[in-house]
Amino acid sequence: MLKQRNVFMRKHISEIAGMVGKSVELKGWVHRKRTSGKIIFIVLRDHTGIVQASFKSENLPEKEWEAAENVAVESSIAIEGKVVSDPRAPTGYEISGSSIKLISASEPYPITEYQSTELLLDKRHLWLRSTRMTKIMKVRSAVFRHTRSFLDRNGFFEITPPLITASAGESGADMFTVDYFGKDVYLTESSQLYSEAMIYSLEKVYSFAPSFRAEKSRTTKHLAEYWHLEPEMAYFDLNMTMELIENLISSIASGLIENEGELLEQLVIDKKTLSVVKPPFKRITYEKAIELLNKKGKELSWGDDLGVDEERMLTQDEKVPVFVTHWPKEIKPFYMPINPEDDRTVLCADLQAPAGHGEIVGGSERVWKYEDAIRRFREVEAIKGVKFNMDNYAWYLDLMRYGGVPHAGFGMGMERLIKWMLNLDHIRDAIPFPRMSNRVSP
Ligand code: 4AD
Ligand code: MG
Repeated sequence: MLKQRNVFMRKHISEIAGMVGKSVELKGWVHRKRTSGKIIFIVLRDHTGIVQASFKSENLPEKEWEAAENVAVESSIAIEGKVVSDPRAPTGYEISGSSIKLISASEPYPITEYQSTELLLDKRHLWLRSTRMTKIMKVRSAVFRHTRSFLDRNGFFEITPPLITASAGESGADMFTVDYFGKDVYLTESSQLYSEAMIYSLEKVYSFAPSFRAEKSRTTKHLAEYWHLEPEMAYFDLNMTMELIENLISSIASGLIENEGELLEQLVIDKKTLSVVKPPFKRITYEKAIELLNKKGKELSWGDDLGVDEERMLTQDEKVPVFVTHWPKEIKPFYMPINPEDDRTVLCADLQAPAGHGEIVGGSERVWKYEDAIRRFREVEAIKGVKFNMDNYAWYLDLMRYGGVPHAGFGMGMERLIKWMLNLDHIRDAIPFPRMSNRVSP
């Protein structure tokens, strides 16, 4: 078993520290190159880091020396040499090269040291090779892994929802229309309704899939396509759901500290900002949030939604995420049930990231009795002046007609979470190929 696995394991640059005096073969890309007389210095990059290799003409066959002389930045190469310790080298080690083979030559690389943001987005497919993007993508992969690991440990089943749908899961106002064999359907804005359908067999489930939002808003936290985690739990109420959310998020944070500590350091993330993320998170009602914002000088009345500015103001001095609960029913979707203690509000909670990063989670209890659901649909129609096509929701209402149960769930935007945890200026750097209203390529 192990032997077979080793077949897939090449040696990487991060491993050479333990190999001083030994020979090693490495494959990667030319990060930098300089020639000094009869020595060529090549800085090699692989996914684990960079190392300098020096090649002397007397140690190389003539053809390989020529290859080394001509090799351009970003060419792919394979090298062999002896690992030597060199305190002057940035990583403390160097390779004294004995062979260099060109795998594929690079044309002149279009990205040089100082480039505009626009060019880096145009050349995104190449910019992803930069050391910073490499590190962010590793953290992203780890965040996904810690997320799944927490949910798997806690008895959840991962489910796979359809991404093409006829029914809106949210307001429906921001959906991309798709021509489906001559009929207009949509790219999903949320997989929630499908997650809900699956609690009737699996009880605790999560879908982990893209959601699409045709939002024109060009902010630092909106993507047109983002990765959406949507757990749904039978017999959970709002308090249990908030407890689950805070434990999930703190487990992702501690997972990163334990396993990706070095990466966090390289990305200049103060680990304290993550180690303080421990349950319980602060909980305030929507009403309280409005009061707080009024005190800070924002003119807002009960019933207003919170925009980017309000969200920033609310948590800019916070260190730990804050739940804002019990929002007015007028600004929340049909699936949220009325609060029995105050029928102006619904049983829901949004989670606001600290330091003004904005909403990262939206969650709620769900209507689960047929009559309540119909009442909520009619209410939303009256408030929004829209008409739901109930044919598209017949299947959803069936769930309540055949043994409905109390349940709750939430949606977490993975790029919003990563933006906060890595303190990124813009959400686009939390995803390899960002889709925004003004950009759909590469
Ligand atoms: O608050 P939202 O719209 O809620 C829902 O879609 C629910 N159906 C989720 C559920 O209960 N299953 O979206 C949930 C989260 C937000 O809190 C935010 O983190 C993220 O999705 N999100 C976006 N992320 C990036 N770009 C956008 N345009 C986003 N819109 C929402
Ligand atoms: Mg929301």
